[in-house]
Formats: sequence, structure tokens, C-alpha cells
Amino acid sequence: MSKINNNNRRQFIQQSALVASAAAFPGLLSAKSVQLRSMPTRAFNADVEIEMTAKKAQISVLKSGPTTRVQKYYGKVLKGPKETVQTLKGNYLGPILNFKKGQKVRVYFYNKLNEPSIIHWHGLHVPQKSDGHPMYTIKPGERYVYEFEVMNRAGTSFYHSHTHELTAEQVYQGLAGLITVTDEEEQKLDLPRGEYDLPLVIQDRTFNDRNQLQYLHGMHGRMMGFLGESILVNGQADTEFSVKTRAYRFRALNGSNSRIYKLGWDDGTPLTAIGTDASLLEKPETKPYIMLAPGERVDLWLDFSDRKVGSKLVMYSLPYSGAMPPMYQKMQSGKGGSMGMGGMRGGMMGGKGKMGGMGMMGGGLAQGSKFPIASFKVTEKVSSSPKLPSRLVKFDRLNESDADNINKPIPIAISMKPMSPRLNGKSFSLDKVLDFERVPMGSIKKIKIFHDHGMKKEHGDSKGKMKMSSMRGKGGMGMMSGGMGGGMMMSMAHPIHLHGQQYQIISRKMEGMRKEDYATVKDGFIDSGWKDTVLVMPGEEIEVIKPFQDFKGFFLYHCHNLEHEDLGMMRQFYVY
Ligand code: C2O
Ligand code: CU
Ligand code: CU
Repeated sequence: MSKINNNNRRQFIQQSALVASAAAFPGLLSAKSVQLRSMPTRAFNADVEIEMTAKKAQISVLKSGPTTRVQKYYGKVLKGPKETVQTLKGNYLGPILNFKKGQKVRVYFYNKLNEPSIIHWHGLHVPQKSDGHPMYTIKPGERYVYEFEVMNRAGTSFYHSHTHELTAEQVYQGLAGLITVTDEEEQKLDLPRGEYDLPLVIQDRTFNDRNQLQYLHGMHGRMMGFLGESILVNGQADTEFSVKTRAYRFRALNGSNSRIYKLGWDDGTPLTAIGTDASLLEKPETKPYIMLAPGERVDLWLDFSDRKVGSKLVMYSLPYSGAMPPMYQKMQSGKGGSMGMGGMRGGMMGGKGKMGGMGMMGGGLAQGSKFPIASFKVTEKVSSSPKLPSRLVKFDRLNESDADNINKPIPIAISMKPMSPRLNGKSFSLDKVLDFERVPMGSIKKIKIFHDHGMKKEHGDSKGKMKMSSMRGKGGMGMMSGGMGGGMMMSMAHPIHLHGQQYQIISRKMEGMRKEDYATVKDGFIDSGWKDTVLVMPGEEIEVIKPFQDFKGFFLYHCHNLEHEDLGMMRQFYVY
């Protein structure tokens, strides 16, 4: 009980800080809702109850040497199917949470760290109170109660810490885990299940010589984002899967702070996707490679049917360029020859030697360099395998005419002021929304995500510039003129994530990135499915259609480069 009292007292304090917004947003942050928010609700009849605890742990992450100090989620089923919480042995990742559409879920979250924390269910469409908005961050020793119905269709999501200004470091220390949702529609499909349906959580980390995690703290490093030296898959280094000669479903999640992967096989075999963020696709998509930015998921159909027992395939992150500011990339390539991190990487860069270097600031592998992610060893011959379905699930294709603001898209303007990456010219503030960030519940909106830092000017594209300024007028974004700075020099790729319901991408325009660079990534985007996170390359402009249904309140949108998020590259919609 003392925990709850604690909670109330702290909520009271927090509440006074939010008084201004309570007045501006009636009903949402009233004293009553603030006090009740962390108590189980009688009216909510949970089918599933789980307990999640965040605490410090010591885990053998690396194969030899000392254990690694991490922060870890532990889970326990209190009510409902046992498989809801699937613990990964000897792993710093949180358990996989397996939900079914329609389940009513209550989660008791205990913060046993010695710092504040809160969990966000990335990809799930849940009420504000259960979305892990940083305003609900709890202190050490406190408890937070989430209640939500699983409204999502079958697909892959994940959960992670969303503690304001500590998100990047807490996720880095281990506070993340995978979520699967299944539904009847999916059950009717003959997709690989059970031991043939596996996680592929990809992260990069840097360890010191005592096997402890190293994180960056310098401002410049944070502006570029953390890039680690070692690639971990499902919480382990040098991951090798033993597979049978049949099809598998691998649920790939980029759980890294800021590294962007270009997934591809070493032998050039294309990759087939059956799902994107939180949902299956209408039909499978086969691509030469797939780009996967932080926060994005892709469900892969990996078929080893034609492979020989004893053979081994390596999944790589293939080389690409143009995701980092040109200056930064140049500095990295200058170091290309002297990296001493295995010949493979240096050698893959061809004559250009563009990206082979170590990250100057983070000390890790350069963004865009080639390295292995995991290997797949074929160990057993089996005679039957599910066949790739030609159709997966049905959903409505959203287009412009579904939106009520075709000519006045909601802007998400990316800018990088010195030491301050921003959205719509502003940094995050807990209790503020701009006019165009207020969205009526039930509406479907067109949103335009683009870079706004003088890049177009540098490229002498006056047409593009005009378009942006006229949009500014329509969108009422006068404040953005102050957001210039850094210009093209600071332009880099940003994975933009919107909380709440998934959206669909309707257009992608590239103006400003070098053709040679864009050519290294452009065939790896899957725009045919539902998305909640989209990689926006430098100079790229992406239009999406997003429904804002079911729940009122504050729903964040932010860069999922977690260093950027913590530096304030986050805003929120207020759905009323
Ligand atoms: Cu996965 Cu608001 O984040
Ligand atoms: Cu999210
Ligand atoms: Cu960013």
C-alpha cells in the first residue's frame, strides 16, 4: 500500500506542474484522472494480467568473460494464458509478450531501478493513459497500472522505456522486448508457427574490456546518435540459428538506438517480407534488401527449403551511404583504412572507401558499413514446409481522399539546430501543443514529413523552396523560419515514429540527396503496409495518411533515433 501512497503524493506534485495544461485541455489531466491513473479500474475486466518489473541485473551477454550489468524487464503472468510471457533465457531483453487481438490486458509495472522509468508499447493502439507517455514516468519503488484492449491485428510490435531524457540510455541498458499479436485472420493462414516463428531483435552495443556496456555522453556524439561496435541479435553476439530445410518467420525488429540496417543475404538472394510495423502485408513483398531503421519491424519469410544440410547463410547489413551528414561521413571515411576491426568491412567498400571507417564519435562501426548480423546453419532435412501465401490479409488502402486535409497536410518538419534536433521548429514540452497538432478524434489526416534546414536552397532548387514556404503558410507554421541552421551540413536520416494507430505511406519524394547515395537504399523500403515508423532520408519528403480514432489525449510523435528523441526531437498530437 505504501507504494500507492507514494505514487499519489508524487502524482500530486506532478499534477501541480501540469496545472496550466489541465486548464487548456479539460478533462484529461483533471485531479481525478491523475490520481486514478495508476490504480486498477473495476470496470476493466482483464482477461490477461501480467506483472512487469524493471530492475538491474547481471547477464552473460558475451560468450566469455565477466557478466554484463544491465537493466532488464522481468515478466510474470498473473492471469490468463501462460504463453503471454515468454522468457528468453540468459538474456538482457525483456520477455516476449504474446497477445491475441481482443484480449483485455492489465499490466502492473514495478520500477525497481534507482531512476525514474515508464514503459511504452510501441505499435499498440492504446489509450493515452496506457501509452507510456513520459508524463506518467514513475519513480523508483513505484507502480504503474496499464489497462488496454488489444485492438491491433496480427503483427509484431515491441515495448521499451519511454522515460523522458533517459529513453536512449535505458533502452541501451536493456529495457526493451518484443510483442507479438495474433488474430483469427492470421491463424487461418499457413504461416510458420511455434519453433519456426522466431524473433530477430537487432541491436548494436559497445563493451569495454570488462564486458561492460559503454554509452556515449558527449553532445556531438548524441547529435549523430549512438553507434556500437558489436551487433547483438536477440541479446547475444555472434548469433547462429540452426534451421531446417523449410520456411521460417523471423520477426525482425531494429531495437538499436540509432543504427540503420540494410538487411540482405551474403549471396544476393532477395528477402521476402510478410509484415511491416504491427501488421501483416496484403501480399508478400520480395526485395533485394530491406532497410530497417530504429523502431521499425519487418516480418521476414526466410525459406531454407532448397538449401543443403550443412550449408550456412549469413545475413548482413549491406553497405549504403548518405544517411549521415556529408562532413561526418567524410571524417569517417578518412579513418577508413586504419580501423583494424576485421578486414571484411574495409574490403567491402570497393574503390571508394567511403564508409569503412569507425564512427569518430561513438567509436563504433560506421553507419552504412557492411557487417554480418547473424548466420543461419542448415542442420536438418525435413520434407514439408508451409508455402508462401500469395495473399496475406485484407485491409483498406488509404489514399488522399480519405483525409480531410488534402491541401493542408499536418507538417512534421525535421531540423537540426546546433545541438538541438527538432520537429516543427520546436523541442519537446510536456504540456504544449501547436495549433496544427490538435486533431479531432475520428479524423483521418494527411501528414507531410520533410526536412527543413535550407538543404533545398543549397541545391539551388527554388521550386522546392517555394513549395515549402507556401506550405508553411497553409499549415500555419510561421515559427519554422527560425528553425534553419546547420543546413545541408547537418542533414541526416531520421526514423520518424508516430504513436497511436499505424499509418500508410502514400508518397515519397527525393530532392536533395546525391543519386549515387540514394541508389544504395531506395529499393529497400516497404511502403505497401501499415507503418508507425518511417525512415526519412536526407532530402526526402514523405506523405502519410493516418487515422486518429478511438482515443483522445496526447499522442507523441518523435524521431526514433533515441539520442535525438532525448535531445527533444519529439512533439505530440492532442486528439480531442
Ligand atoms: Cu518506440 Cu515513442 O517510441
Ligand atoms: Cu511508439
Ligand atoms: Cu533524428
